[in-house]
Amino acid sequence: MNPIDRQKQASAAAAALEIEDGMTVGLGTGSTAAHFVTALAQRAAAEKLRLRCVSTSRVTADQAVGLGLTVLPLDDVETIDITVDGADEIGPGLSLIKGGGAALLREKLVWESSRRCIVIADAAKVVATLGAFPLPVEVVAFGHTATARRIDAAIRALGLSAEPRLRIRDGVPVQTDSGQLIYDLACGALPDPVAVATALKRITGVMDHGLFLGLASEALVGGVNGVSRLGR
Ligand code: 5RP
Repeated sequence: MNPIDRQKQASAAAAALEIEDGMTVGLGTGSTAAHFVTALAQRAAAEKLRLRCVSTSRVTADQAVGLGLTVLPLDDVETIDITVDGADEIGPGLSLIKGGGAALLREKLVWESSRRCIVIADAAKVVATLGAFPLPVEVVAFGHTATARRIDAAIRALGLSAEPRLRIRDGVPVQTDSGQLIYDLACGALPDPVAVATALKRITGVMDHGLFLGLASEALVGGVNGVSRLGR
């Protein structure tokens, strides 16, 4: 395991200790979230914890079920006690960029149903200003090129340059679990993420964007000297 992956694993293990018997737990998506699912399943088995989980993606649901966790649809739970998920960037006030794993819409739906959201990450994810990581935007497939032009115009109106780029993998556009497409916006530094979030949400073809603002309760960040807890 490389040092970054060790940091991810340490942050995930620390988050697993936050889970208590009887809780409903939101499971994120990505390599750090996968470490959390593993750590959670190990704890649940060892301590006979009765847990219900809600997953943010099919990949995570498959992993969780494979490890013996109970996964329910979001519609079947009234509230989620804690969601634990990774991030692509952690900025000031725990503002986040997410969606590197194309799960941002389901992630946000699960986060918004959660009483507490813990971000887990390696130390390199913590930044002074969001935006070095291209901002993922989930776009309805119908008319997506027209929507991308509207995104570009909206971002330019904010004095930024977007260059929306359709995410392609293995020669085909990446499709989200909900059948949408992802555009990545290489805007560079985002000094006003709220303005960007507001502008993107006004565009009809945009399902959602990877800016998670005011949603994270805390972050557990793995570093060379162990795991640090960051608050808002
Ligand atoms: C998926 C996400 C992930 O949490 C994010 O991309 C971080 O991934 P990783 O833990 O693999 O670095 O937002 O949509």
